Amino acid sequence: MRIRKVYAVYFSATFTTRAVVRRLSAAFGVEVEEYDVFSHPLTHDVTLSEGDLLVAGMPVYVGRIPERGAESLRHFKGNGQPAVVAAVYGNRHYDDAVIEMKDIVEAGGFMTVAAGAFVAQHSMLPRLAAGRPNAADLDEIDAFGRKVKALLETASELKAVEVPGNRPYRETHPIALCPEAGEECAECGVCVENCPVDAIPADNPRLTDASRCLRCGRCIAVCTQGARGYRGEMYAAFEAKFLAAFSEPRPNETWIAE
Ligand SMILES: Cc1cc2nc3c(=O)[nH]c(=O)nc-3n(C[C@H](O)[C@H](O)[C@H](O)COP(=O)(O)O)c2cc1C
Repeated sequence: MRIRKVYAVYFSATFTTRAVVRRLSAAFGVEVEEYDVFSHPLTHDVTLSEGDLLVAGMPVYVGRIPERGAESLRHFKGNGQPAVVAAVYGNRHYDDAVIEMKDIVEAGGFMTVAAGAFVAQHSMLPRLAAGRPNAADLDEIDAFGRKVKALLETASELKAVEVPGNRPYRETHPIALCPEAGEECAECGVCVENCPVDAIPADNPRLTDASRCLRCGRCIAVCTQGARGYRGEMYAAFEAKFLAAFSEPRPNETWIAE
C-alpha cells in the first residue's frame, strides 16, 4: 500500500519522545500531521482512512505508558489502517509499554505493523542515557522507518507484529519525589504555564502540589533559570542506585511484522 499521510502522535514532557516520533514520521517522506497530546489532550475521536499511517510515541513511566497519554491514544480510530508504535525510555527498561501501546491501537482498529523501543535521556535522572537520542540513534530510527515504508509498499496483506511484554501489565506505582524550585527561581511563571495539571500555583511558582504533579519533568525542561529539579537525600539515593544498576547503554530495539 502507498502511504499518503502520517498521523504523528506523541506525549512528550521533555521532548525526547517528540524527537523520536518526528524523525520516524519523516522517514515516510509524505505529509505529516502532528498531534501533541501532552499539551493538547484529545477529547474527540480522530479516524484514519485509506493511505493513512499512525506513528505513535509514548514515554515509559514505571514500565507503562502514562495514563494521560493512553487516554488520548484511545481516541485514534484505525479502520484497518497500519500503525507503528514507539516506546521511549530512559535506559532502565520499557517493560510492558510497547505491548500496552500495541493493545490500545489495535483496540482502536489499527494493524500494528511495527514497533520500537528507543532509548532517550532519563527525564528524572538526566545522567542516565544523557544526550540520547544521539546521532547514531537517529540514524537507526531513519533506517527503521525506511524498512517499515518498504514493507508497507510491498506486502500483499498486513500482519500484526509480535512484541515483548506481559499481560496483565505490571502495576504502576506513584513516585514520592517531586520537582522543586531552588534559590535561582525568578518566579517568571513559565513552569506555571507549561504544567499540564496546574500543579504549580501562579501566585507562588516556588511551590509544587505533589498530589497533582505527574513527575513528567516539563517544568524542569522549560525553566528559564535552571532552577527546578529533584533535590534532597532521597533523590540522591535513588540516583545513585539507578546509575549503578542501569548505566550500561541499552540498544534500541525494533520489531517488524514479516
Ligand atoms: C515518572 C517517570 C517514570 C519513568 N519510568 C521509567 C521506566 O520505568 N523505565 C525507563 O527506562 N525510563 C523511565 N523514565 C524515563 C523516561 O521514559 C524517558 O526519560 C523518556 O525519554 C521521557 O520522554 P519525554 O522526553 O518525551 O518526556 C521515567 C520518567 C518519568 C518522568
